[in-house]
Amino acid sequence: MSDHPAIAAGRVAVVTGAASGIGLAAAERFAERGMKLVLADVDVGALEAAAEGLRARTGRPAEIMAVPTDVGDRVAVEALKDRAYGAFGEVAVLMNNAGREGGGQLFGDPARWQAILQTNLWGVVNGIQVFGPAMIAQGTTGAIVSTGSKQGITCPPGDTAYNVSKAGVKVATEALAHELRNTEGCRVTAHLLIPGFTFTGFTLVRHKEKPAGAWLPEQVIDELLQGMAKNDFYILCPDNDVSRELDAKRILWAAGDIAENRPPLSRWHPDYKAAFERFIEE
Ligand SMILES: NC(=O)c1ccc[n+]([C@@H]2O[C@H](COP(=O)([O-])OP(=O)(O)OC[C@H]3O[C@@H](n4cnc5c(N)ncnc54)[C@H](O)[C@@H]3O)[C@@H](O)[C@H]2O)c1
Repeated sequence: MSDHPAIAAGRVAVVTGAASGIGLAAAERFAERGMKLVLADVDVGALEAAAEGLRARTGRPAEIMAVPTDVGDRVAVEALKDRAYGAFGEVAVLMNNAGREGGGQLFGDPARWQAILQTNLWGVVNGIQVFGPAMIAQGTTGAIVSTGSKQGITCPPGDTAYNVSKAGVKVATEALAHELRNTEGCRVTAHLLIPGFTFTGFTLVRHKEKPAGAWLPEQVIDELLQGMAKNDFYILCPDNDVSRELDAKRILWAAGDIAENRPPLSRWHPDYKAAFERFIEE
């Protein structure tokens, strides 16, 4: 299958959260396709190391640019856009991927909530608003990918701030897809990447070695590239424990809380435990 038309040698990919995990794996794959790269991350040391590695592997040092960026900072995202257009004159792919998690309990520290929402939600909104109009105006093929999460769809209790942020990423990116397809002459598409459990900087906090159930970030990016090639919007990744069919049922059950007038998050409600299990087994 041929790639999405924006993923092509000589074109430009901007990846946020590019110093680690899923973002770094995306940068590697885009580089293998011969794309020029603008790598953005708030971790300056890791960003420079990632860029150096890519420069060495591609042998195209002039085409790999690292721009330290806090995606939650609108001015920094505008500067990122200026650097990308200034150096390479266009952007074909924007991957709004930077993210953080942890400590976002419902009655938890509001500063932690702010930080999670600022990166995960505002980072994506900033990326869409700053790059979107410029990419449309280019008149060329393009793609904007946001990294969401199953936690923004089925919303398991625990890290509520993270769930809220990722639910917002889904909503904003769905609106982007609607906007792009209704803009005359627009050749830019939108995609929501929904990784499963993936062994990255996120998971390293809890696991020193890759848990058997986790995918590698490269598997997530292969799934992304295949989904983009088919122009899928929702790119729902399985992992070694959870199949696509199981995810689909969990998503249907969550939507059913409203349609069937059950209590919210009934999947975790003791009175609905048996019904949920039956639904999954059916
Ligand atoms: N790993 C998983 O299981 C999993 C599952 C679903 C979704 N995700 C999402 O995948 C995305 C990538 O995460 P990952 O798993 O590769 O983790 P990771 O920690 O390996 O990578 C995240 C990167 O984002 C950077 N970052 C954090 N805050 C930033 C900011 N304000 N500005 C710029 N960069 C910032 C970090 O420095 C890091 O390099 C995130 O949006 C995450 O929510 C991960």
